[in-house]
Amino acid sequence: MSDGMNAAQIITIERHILEQQYRLGDTSGHLINILYDVALCGKIIASNVIQAGLTDTLGRAGEENVQGEQVMKMDKFADSTIFRLNDHTGRLACMASEENADVIAIPDKYPTGKYVLLYDPLDGSSNMDYNVSVGTIFAIYQRKSTDGRGTLDDCLQPGRKLVAAGYVIYGSSTMMVYTTGFGVHGFTLNRRWGEFILSHPNIRIPEKPQFYSVNTGNERFWSPGVLRYMRYLQGGEEVSVNLSCRYIGSLVADFHRNLLAGGVFCYPADRKDPKKAHGKLRLLYEAAPLALIAEQAGGYASDGRKPILDIQPTSLHQRVPLFIGNTDLVNQAEEYISKFDGPAAG
Ligand code: AHG
Ligand code: MN
Ligand code: MN
Repeated sequence: MSDGMNAAQIITIERHILEQQYRLGDTSGHLINILYDVALCGKIIASNVIQAGLTDTLGRAGEENVQGEQVMKMDKFADSTIFRLNDHTGRLACMASEENADVIAIPDKYPTGKYVLLYDPLDGSSNMDYNVSVGTIFAIYQRKSTDGRGTLDDCLQPGRKLVAAGYVIYGSSTMMVYTTGFGVHGFTLNRRWGEFILSHPNIRIPEKPQFYSVNTGNERFWSPGVLRYMRYLQGGEEVSVNLSCRYIGSLVADFHRNLLAGGVFCYPADRKDPKKAHGKLRLLYEAAPLALIAEQAGGYASDGRKPILDIQPTSLHQRVPLFIGNTDLVNQAEEYISKFDGPAAG
């Protein structure tokens, strides 16, 4: 068998997803087909990302999105790829994307289905032009409404209701990592075969963490509790840990490294910039799907006060502070914040 693998070692993502079907009671096969399609989106986006410098897909698209951020050409490519591969399948009631202000309706000419797909088509895209790892994040819910076109209410569900979630990371290799509630599994893209092959079964976050990840350039905007927590992470408190700081600036890449090596990623609330008063990261298509991955791998994710997965969303693009990774480290964040920042407002 070429590529140094023997047949016994080859578990494609298609085979792995199919094995979930019976566990999930997905008799229609729609959920597993959505996961196949997400994997195909990952392959298509990867094929473009790895040679973006040779195609006209680097740089800015010349428009601002609902987040008030500059849209990169690759954001648009990834966004339209995911939409075009999912709009006609009859599996989705609606979609929602970081790059679209409102719920994305399934075109009238196509049937609707019972699932909802939310996604960050390209995470870390501001790094695109510098050849830094980027990713795609996805979250899948069952619709709440019974039929017809999906609604905003179908999208505004807490992370505990997720039926599947994961990400594709376009790094030194392209990997897809997903969970359907039965553990976290990682697949590496074999480019010669065009297949994602199981390379990281049953990922568990290591007991002993190695890293903490935070943009220290925002230090002046942090609360007293967060500042004390950072000193704890840096070994400056009486009881501390001994960690290295690693910050890539692409959430998927920072999260993936900490998931495999052990660590905590932090994007705290910002006390100065009203746009980031609740942090920068978005609940529905960044924090919640990764929180499910973290918990399924034995870790935890919090907004500094409570589990990310328990938060009831109130708007499509709402932002949350995010502390995600080893349970002990995230629990410490909640301890320092409640001790030095007082009770949560409201
Ligand atoms: P996106 O490219 O989807 O807007 O996400 C960017 C996010 C996230 O990937 C990363 O952790 C964070 O922005 C970095 O923000 P700072 O540059 O403020 O540190
Ligand atoms: Mn993002
Ligand atoms: Mn994005």
